[in-house]
Amino acid sequence: MRGAVAILRASAVGALVAGVIADQNVLQPFAGSDKILITNDDGWAVAQIRAEYAALKDAGYNVILSAPAENKSGSGGLLSKPGPRTTPCEFNSCPADSGATGFNASDPRLNWVNGYPADAADFGINTLAPQFFAGVPDLVVSGPNVGPNTGLSVFVSGTVGAAGHAVHLNVPAVAFSGADGSTAQEAWTDLSTAPKSATVVGAETYAAMTTKFLHALFAQPPTSPALLPADTLLNVNFPALSGTCNADSVQWVLTRAFPKLLWDSDVEICNNGGTLPNDGTVVGAGCFASVSALSPTLKLDSDSDVQADVLHRLSALGFVCFSG
Ligand SMILES: *[C@@H]1O[C@H](CO)[C@@H](O)[C@H](O)[C@H]1NC(C)=O
Ligand SMILES: *[C@@H]1O[C@H](CO)[C@@H](O)[C@H](O)[C@H]1NC(C)=O
Repeated sequence: MRGAVAILRASAVGALVAGVIADQNVLQPFAGSDKILITNDDGWAVAQIRAEYAALKDAGYNVILSAPAENKSGSGGLLSKPGPRTTPCEFNSCPADSGATGFNASDPRLNWVNGYPADAADFGINTLAPQFFAGVPDLVVSGPNVGPNTGLSVFVSGTVGAAGHAVHLNVPAVAFSGADGSTAQEAWTDLSTAPKSATVVGAETYAAMTTKFLHALFAQPPTSPALLPADTLLNVNFPALSGTCNADSVQWVLTRAFPKLLWDSDVEICNNGGTLPNDGTVVGAGCFASVSALSPTLKLDSDSDVQADVLHRLSALGFVCFSG
């Protein structure tokens, strides 16, 4: 592990964020009925999204899944008008000639959409949520993606694109990605047929990290009725899973996606001189998860006020200082 770490304490974070630590005393208990829409870009039947669906349900969330019928990685925030499929869904998970959208007959909360990730998020928000939630989701969870989405890749990432579309529809959204690509091409059936495989253990570890993040987000100190700052999506990257890196040991770092330009100013924490570490550097340095705040359209780093707000809302994660 290369990164030097210190727990973020009030003394290190300056006046602006000093209140954050005290807020931990007034965290609200986890409500358990929060309405979550999950989507991704690797497709509705990959092990990684199904592991997450199971984990969030087990944790008490009210979950629906709406994701592309097949791998639509790299399609950014593209939108289309989904048309009927002629071929089976990925891993033969739906029959050929089965329409533009469909669901698992034994679990109608599991839905596929013959379109892009943003189409799947759209269908989930506009069509499924009114049925299952009688309203809008509290949060859209996009991913975890198979493979990282740090730096420039946020421009083409379907995982980030779907989250951006949700924010455009005024639904708070977080994109998650896991640096381990080992779950590529793995079907949901492996969760039961090969429960000890590295792929399945990895999918479940990322699902546990996502669950931990959601618990912290929903336990946020009272700030405003909105779950996240307006016009902001969060892009979270999980590290590769080697050794003992898991949901208990992972350390969370507030990051930026792009090199800081002259006119940018980041939140001042950890004696950082106003520059947050880069997300790719952080997740490459060991058992660290990066959290970057981005604008939903251009996918550029948010300003220091938004970063400070995110730090405040997610204080239950226990962010650490990082110096690579
Ligand atoms: C549909 O759901 C059932 C029950 O949870 C499960 O056994 C089956 O594998 C699922 N199939 C697909 C394609 O999701
Ligand atoms: C989807 O496609 C991308 C790009 O071709 C690839 O990197 C990724 O591993 C694929 N995902 C799965 C689950 O196969």
